Amino acid sequence: MIIANEMVPLIDPALERYTHEHTKPANALLQELTRVTREKMRDYNMQVGSVEGTFLRMLATMSGARRVLEIGTFTGYSALSMAEALPDDGEVITCDIDEEVTRVAQSFFDRSPHGKKIQIRLGDARATIRELAKDAASKPFDLVFLDADKRSYVDYFELALPMVRQGGLIVADNTLWSGRVLDPKSEDDRGIDAYNKLVTKDERVDNVLLSIRDGIMLARKR
Ligand SMILES: C[S@@+](CC[C@H](N)C(=O)[O-])C[C@H]1O[C@@H](n2cnc3c(N)ncnc32)[C@H](O)[C@@H]1O
Repeated sequence: MIIANEMVPLIDPALERYTHEHTKPANALLQELTRVTREKMRDYNMQVGSVEGTFLRMLATMSGARRVLEIGTFTGYSALSMAEALPDDGEVITCDIDEEVTRVAQSFFDRSPHGKKIQIRLGDARATIRELAKDAASKPFDLVFLDADKRSYVDYFELALPMVRQGGLIVADNTLWSGRVLDPKSEDDRGIDAYNKLVTKDERVDNVLLSIRDGIMLARKR
């Protein structure tokens, strides 16, 4: 039986291990964050992990991102990974509804030379995005990373896309959802499947669905 947020590996575990062994290791602080999250958090597997974290940092570097919006902070691994790629005046705005997990995130941001680039917004992501939309014309985002409740991805995409600059990216995690997209049953399964269908049809973006980890949908605003 698959529990709600259990992640089933999409590739052979030996190959998964091989991808880790052939990706540069995370720095000591990120490795500690992985360890602490495993020790303290029941849902530790929500963390993106080192290969995807490295991929996000590389995307932020390659796209020359200065402003990043993240939906779903958890203990801060992806936010910190992306912040490392930004210039000194860059910023990651990351939001979460859970105060306890963001306390862990903030304690790691405080120990990183890149932590001052990260702002945590506590509260429902829809409300946070609507608030940020007021400034979006003068301060558009270069990259948005969706990694919160799966049933809301379509809403997050519609709210965030107008705030993204032309050529900017919306990156969504878990878009293969341990294979459950093939036979969606729950609201979250349907949410992910609806998101993948929407992005593929939407003329405002180019897109590719990558089978990295649990699936990453990359959309680039035209
Ligand atoms: C998969 S985790 C994020 C993992 C994170 N990106 C990382 O690498 O560690 C999803 C997070 O989304 C948060 N979340 C769920 N629903 C939310 C909502 N409506 N608004 C904001 N955050 C939400 C959860 O509290 C959880 O911490």
